[in-house]
Formats: sequence, structure tokens, C-alpha cells
Amino acid sequence: MLNIALPKGRLGEKVYAAFEAAGYECPAIKETNRKLIFENEAKGVRYFWVKPSDVSIYVERGAADVGVAGKDILLEYEPNVYELLDLHMGKCRMAVAAPKAFYDDGDRTLRVATKFTNIESNYYAGIGRDIDIIKLNGSIEIAPILGLSDVIVDIVETGTTLKENDLEVKTTILPISARLIANKASFKFKGAQIEALVGSIKEQIEHD
Ligand code: PRP
Repeated sequence: MLNIALPKGRLGEKVYAAFEAAGYECPAIKETNRKLIFENEAKGVRYFWVKPSDVSIYVERGAADVGVAGKDILLEYEPNVYELLDLHMGKCRMAVAAPKAFYDDGDRTLRVATKFTNIESNYYAGIGRDIDIIKLNGSIEIAPILGLSDVIVDIVETGTTLKENDLEVKTTILPISARLIANKASFKFKGAQIEALVGSIKEQIEHD
């Protein structure tokens, strides 16, 4: 049995559709919306819906053999897992954004609000900019509006949230997309099953 952690939400549904089309269907998953674990014994798969940012924890610790996590989560938490495949779904970017009028003249420590403190510190260390990290858990966009920070580092998908809050992208840090990841021990002991899954999903994505 392959244990598969999927991110709960819109991306997860898209990802499940690709797994289904690749021959790893689990019809019970569509019958109810509160249950979190579904199994198709005949196909040898068991799916779990978990919080997107928790997928890599399940996979790293072996509670799931494989899972689907955003590149943002992988870069932020650096879990000890194998990254097997870019699914080219859930595409967005990690960016520095600020009010339109803001210009960083480099004179003083830059106050940066984010959920992604590791990505943020790596980025600013890379360009040698001194920053004050302000860790928030959501609604990051209001930080510069209220004067809590100068800029934010956050995910931008359509750009609507920034636009509606009078902010704009100043710099794109990284492109983001969903990745298929595997537990290292599972990859060793269930290697053939995992390789077969990766092959089918890859084929499925390429023909989509
Ligand atoms: C993300 C991000 C932005 C928004 C960007 O939030 O933090 O707020 O999406 O999307 P857009 O460019 O299409 O407007 P998400 O909804 O993932 O949840 P969060 O509020 O918990 O960060």
C-alpha cells in the first residue's frame, strides 16, 4: 500500500485528478467531504488530506510515503525528503512587495513581514541587505499599510490581493509550483511502486 499525502484545498483536488487519470483512482474520495483518509486496496493506494504546509512533515517522518507540497514549503522548511517531480500545478511566485511609492534607498534596516522567514533571510543574505524579520501568520499585505513593515515577502498568484491593497511587486524571488516528494526510506523499500507512480503521473502531465 502506498500512503499519499495530498494538500487539502483547490490544489489538492487538481492533484488528485492527475493521480486518478494516471490510474491511481480512489472513488470513495468523492463520496464524502469530511473524511480525511481514503483507500483503494485494489490499486494499492491510501490518500490523506492534510494541511498544505503539513504535507512535508508527514512525508519526512514516513507517515506518508509520498506527497505533494509547494516549492515554497520545501524551501522554507527544508524537509529531508526526495523531490521527485515538478507537477507544473499551483504555479505562483515568491515576491517582495511594497506600497507603490516605497523605494528602498538602503539607508536603514529594512523591516520585512512574512510567513516565510527562511526564504526571506536567505534572499536578503544573498544580496547583503540588513533586515528586521517580522514573522506573521497571514494577511501579510496589511503590514506595510499599517506601518508594521516596509515591505513583505509573500506568494503572488494572480496579483489581485496586492492590487486591492495598493501594493506592487518590487522583486520576484522565485517561481513556485507543486512538487511530488517522497520519504527517503520509502523510496528505498517501495522504490518500484513509487517509480511506477512517478512514471504514470509524468506521462499524465505531459499529455494534459
Ligand atoms: C496567498 C498569499 C496572498 C494571496 C495571493 O494567501 O499570501 O495573500 O494568496 O494570491 P493572489 O495574487 O491571487 O491575490 P493564501 O490564500 O494562500 O493564504 P494566507 O492568507 O493564509 O496566506
